[in-house]
Amino acid sequence: MSTTVQRDHVFYRNPSKNYPTAVRAEGVMIYDQDGKAYIDGSGGAVVVSIGHGVREIDQAMRQQASRIAFAHGSQFTTEAAVGLARRIVDICPPGLEWVYFLSGGSEAIETAIKMARQYQVDRGMPSKYKVISRWTSYHGNTLGALALGGHTGRRKYYLPLIQHTPHIVPAYCYRCPFGRTPDACALECAADLESTILYEGPDSVSAFLAEPVVGATAGALVPRDGYFQKIREICDRYDVLLIVDEVMSGVGRCGKNFAIEHWGVVPDMIVGSKGLAGGYSPIFSVVTTEKVHTAIKEGNGAFVHGHTYSQNPLSCAVASAVLDYIRDHDLVARSAAMGAYLLQRLQRLYRNPIVGDVRGLGLMAGVEFVADRNTRRPFAPQLKLNALITNRAFEKGLIVYPGGGGADGVNGDHVLLAPPFVITEAQIDRLVEILDESISEITAEKNLV
Ligand SMILES: Cc1ncc(COP(=O)(O)O)c(C=O)c1O
Repeated sequence: MSTTVQRDHVFYRNPSKNYPTAVRAEGVMIYDQDGKAYIDGSGGAVVVSIGHGVREIDQAMRQQASRIAFAHGSQFTTEAAVGLARRIVDICPPGLEWVYFLSGGSEAIETAIKMARQYQVDRGMPSKYKVISRWTSYHGNTLGALALGGHTGRRKYYLPLIQHTPHIVPAYCYRCPFGRTPDACALECAADLESTILYEGPDSVSAFLAEPVVGATAGALVPRDGYFQKIREICDRYDVLLIVDEVMSGVGRCGKNFAIEHWGVVPDMIVGSKGLAGGYSPIFSVVTTEKVHTAIKEGNGAFVHGHTYSQNPLSCAVASAVLDYIRDHDLVARSAAMGAYLLQRLQRLYRNPIVGDVRGLGLMAGVEFVADRNTRRPFAPQLKLNALITNRAFEKGLIVYPGGGGADGVNGDHVLLAPPFVITEAQIDRLVEILDESISEITAEKNLV
């Protein structure tokens, strides 16, 4: 890689970094301009579900573009939008039957919290407006979503611009906020929602928002069984809507259509998902219940909201083709099976003393690093350990998704793994081998033990 920084006109995420040019992709592999191959071990940022370069999607895209590529959602409906809404309802838990389309995950989160608010006003409960969320969470970078997220580093710059909203503790068993071991756990982290609702005043709380499996901020935090059941009960007790953010975990990623199904809980809204169009087109959705839809329809009559590309037919057709491909190739079951294999293979990483925890659900897995396994003390953030490991893996042809600040908002390092569902066992073996090598090389070079 050259050492001079790129001088084209793209305002890159990190303008001081040199990015290779991606020119081609197929299955789980991405190739750059020099022909170097990378295993897409994180599906970008947990986006690519059915794999790269699927011909059927290319065909669906061309077919739709040749008929109608755009019609504005305030003027028309289209067969593509109607068809996709039907397909999404079919894979949602029963009761979730109204689909609002968006083009980004943050946009979808903003939509869900506004939909919750308008629902409360339109049904005659205008005092209910607060959205409670959790620390160690990520819901997007727009200001409303950032306010609800619980990642200190991402919020820091923009604090003067965002609202202060109530946050509760995460369901983080490896770093239990109550110092419990699994045997002594009484789901205090779920009970924290109840006390926060009571402190805030139930009449002021509109909704609770949480990722069923935490992605970017902690690396695949999977809650204990019983957590979301208890959260659902508390929400019902205080007339609070339960919104689950399945932007990462949805559409098969965690081995079920939606991760929340692992606990048999039906939320009031599902926000999803990067995997809906699997990277082929930007499209997301908020799916809600008859209760919410009717309140708005019979209240104001219209949802006071909207975005230009919501419901655009090209993205809708692409997403339908992706859902068809997932169904026809049984890829949700494959995500569950390959996820179990990945988790089993990742156990080998424990031979590295800096690996503190390996966890996951389906094909969403996380590896958390610690300076001391006994105390679970994280590394100093100045070391940028997650970036060092990610960059070394990248050099070796493996893409993983790094993250920091999981332990307390500032400290903590992890990498997230989320390969396309079509990954093979041999490719998983290679992925784990490269990650293992990268961890042990960085450990030795930086004298970490
Ligand atoms: C759980 C979760 N919610 C929301 C978002 C925001 O999505 P977007 O980047 O498309 O705005 C993300 C993005 O990573 C996410 O992981």
